[in-house]
Amino acid sequence: AIYGEGRGNSQGINLNIQSQWLPLKTAYEGFFNQQWTAAPLVDGQRLEGRVRPVHCPWQRSQQVGEVVWATAEQTTDAISGLQRAFPGWNATPVEQRAAILEKTADLLEQNMPELMALCSREAGKSLQDGIDEVREAVDFCRYYAQQARQRFALISLPGPTGERNELYLQGRGVFACISPWNFPLAIFLGQVAAALVCGNSVVAKPAEQTSLVAMRCVELMHQAGLPKGVLALLPGDGAEVGSVISSDPRIAGAAFTGSTQTAFLISRALAARNAPLAPLVAETGGQNVMLVDSTALPEQVVRDVLHSAFASAGQRCSALRILLLQEDIAGRVLELLGGAMAELQVGDPSRRDTDLGPVIDAEAREALQAHIEEFRSRGRLIAETPLPAGLDGHFVAPVALRLERLDELDREHFGPILHVLTWRSEQLGELLEQVNATGYGLTMGIHSRNEQTVAWIDQRVRVGNLYVNRNQIGAVVGVQPFGGMGLSGTGPKAGGPHYLLRFVTERTRTINT
Ligand code: SER
Repeated sequence: AIYGEGRGNSQGINLNIQSQWLPLKTAYEGFFNQQWTAAPLVDGQRLEGRVRPVHCPWQRSQQVGEVVWATAEQTTDAISGLQRAFPGWNATPVEQRAAILEKTADLLEQNMPELMALCSREAGKSLQDGIDEVREAVDFCRYYAQQARQRFALISLPGPTGERNELYLQGRGVFACISPWNFPLAIFLGQVAAALVCGNSVVAKPAEQTSLVAMRCVELMHQAGLPKGVLALLPGDGAEVGSVISSDPRIAGAAFTGSTQTAFLISRALAARNAPLAPLVAETGGQNVMLVDSTALPEQVVRDVLHSAFASAGQRCSALRILLLQEDIAGRVLELLGGAMAELQVGDPSRRDTDLGPVIDAEAREALQAHIEEFRSRGRLIAETPLPAGLDGHFVAPVALRLERLDELDREHFGPILHVLTWRSEQLGELLEQVNATGYGLTMGIHSRNEQTVAWIDQRVRVGNLYVNRNQIGAVVGVQPFGGMGLSGTGPKAGGPHYLLRFVTERTRTINT
C-alpha cells in the first residue's frame, strides 16, 4: 500500500498494530457470506413491493442482498405519518433525543465489522475506508448530540421593560434527507442525526446503490430507542421517490448531498410548491485543485497527491481533480508521481495492501473510461497504474492526464482521474481567477513553503476547505467542518458548530410578568 491509514477520528484503530486490525478484519470477513435486505421502513414496518437484487461492485457475480424500492404512494403516505409524529418528537426533551444519538454511536461501534462488510460488499469500500466510514458516523452522532445540548439551551435575553424575554430552538417539521452512495453510512447518518436531534421527523432517501447500509443503520437507530414513527426510510429511484419527496408541500426542509445538477432539481421542486419556504442544505460537487509552487517538497507533494486523488478510488467530493504544478518543479514531481502510480495496488478492497477498490457501478466506470480514452487518443496520458489481470468488477486504473487549459474540463469526473496543468509564476493571478471561475468552491490544497504565497492565495480563492502542505481529503468531524460554496453547496458545514442551525426554527418568547 502506497498511502497509509486515514487519520483518526474519535477513536483510532491503527492498521500498523496487528493486535488491533487482525481481529477486526477476521470479524469483518465473517460477514462476507451474509445476505442483507432493505425495504421501505415506515413506522417500523417493512413495506412490500418489487424486489431488486444487489450485486457486489468487485465480485459482480455475487449477490449481497435484495432491496424493495418504494412507490410514490408509499412515499406520500410515509410523509403523512411523519407529520403526525412530529409534534410529540419535537416536544421530547433534547437530552432524550441526544442520548438516542449517543446510544446509536455505541451500537455502531459494537457492529463495526458488519457495517464495514456492508460498506465493502455493497459500496466497494476498502478495509481502511470502511473503518473510517464507521468512525465518521460515530463522530457525527456524538458531535451533533453535544451540539444540540448546547444549542437548545434556553437563552435569557434582557428585559428592560420588566418583561421576560427568552430565545429557544425548535424543530421545523418533516425534514427530507437525501444522501449519496460514496459515504453510505456516514453522510446518510450525519444528515438524519442532525435533523432528528433538532426535533424534526425525517423522511430518508438513500442513494439507489446503497440501500442495504442505510437499512441496517436505521435498524440500529430503532434499537437505540428512536421512536419508530419519527424516521421513515424510502429506498428507491431518485427520479421517482426523490422528486415526490421534494415536491411534497409538507416538507419543511431538506438536506441533500450529491451532484450539483440534482441539487438544482431539488431546489426548484421545493420552490415550485404552494407551500411555506423551506431551507435546503446542499453539499455537492467540486473541481478541486492543488496548487504546488517551486518551494514545495516533491516527495511530500507526491504522497499527498496520491492520497487526495486516488484514495477511495477518487470517489470523494473533496478529492483532488486538477494538480497545478509550477513549471520549475513539474518534471521532478511527475517523475516521482509516475513511479509511485506504477506501484499502486488496485483490486480486492478487503485486502490490507489494496490502495484502490472498484468504482461504484458499470455506469460510473464507463463514463470515467470514456473520458480517459478521449484524453489518451489526444496523446495526453502522463501516467497510468497497471490493472492486474482477472479482476471481476467495476475497476478503473488510476491515471494522470495532461491539461492545456483549466477550462478544458467542463464537469467533475468522479473517480481516480488526476488532471495536471503546469504554470509559470507570472500566470498565478490569472490561474486563481480561473479556479474561481469554475464556480465550484469545495476543497483546495496548497503546497508551498512560502508563507506569503499561501496568504496571498488564501485571500483570493473561494473554497470551503483549504489545506496547506498536506492532503486535501478526510475532513474530521468537529475538527475540520466540511462543505463548500457556489456550485459546491449552500453551507453550513457538516460536522461544524453552525450545521444544526439550518434544521431549526427560532422562537422568541416575551412574557409580561
Ligand atoms: N468529508 C469527505 C472528505 O473530507 C468528503 O466527502 O473527504
